[in-house]
Amino acid sequence: MDQSDVGNDLANILLTEEQLQKRLSEMAGQIDADYEGKDLLLVGVLKGAIMVMADLARHLHSQVQMDWMAVSSYGSGTKSSGVVRILKDLDTDLTGRNVLIVEDIIDSGLTLSWLAQNLRSRGPESVEIAAMLRKPEAAKVDVEVKYVGYDIPNEFVVGYGLDYAEKYRNLPFVGTLAPHVYGG
Ligand code: XMP
Ligand code: MG
Repeated sequence: MDQSDVGNDLANILLTEEQLQKRLSEMAGQIDADYEGKDLLLVGVLKGAIMVMADLARHLHSQVQMDWMAVSSYGSGTKSSGVVRILKDLDTDLTGRNVLIVEDIIDSGLTLSWLAQNLRSRGPESVEIAAMLRKPEAAKVDVEVKYVGYDIPNEFVVGYGLDYAEKYRNLPFVGTLAPHVYGG
């Protein structure tokens, strides 16, 4: 799928594939340095983080393990409520592990704040967060994010793992949706 296939649905491209990959490679460099000589477990949050996880992991030189969680936050439509339910838990015991949560986007921060706290209660050595995108204007809680790809405006975005009604996840770039797509 490329821009022409979805051109009618997108208002504009916010971050190109090149920009995403360049930033991921810089983030990977930092992560490699920070975790040198330590074990590292990447925890991807399904489904949005699939692309970030796959690309970030390939930019890393360190040996890492990868595991996945699926969570859903109660709430309607595109708003998260902060009440989170685990749909799929980790297979990995976190005792003594260095955990890096890998997320697609931080909006209100409620989901990640809950998740980080949940994982910290499992006896890990450390829990940090890496997120490809962050909307600073949407923040409702302070979440300490050690690695951030890009800060973006407070608009609904799709692509690179992010969906609208399960569509657009496979786009290699991030764009904003045209209003007609969501009934605007
Ligand atoms: P909170 O508000 O808890 O929400 O930080 C984070 C989760 O909400 C979803 N989300 C989005 N999904 N485009 C999307 O496709 C967006 O602009 C967007 N903003 C938030 C996403 O699942 C994220 O993990
Ligand atoms: Mg998500």
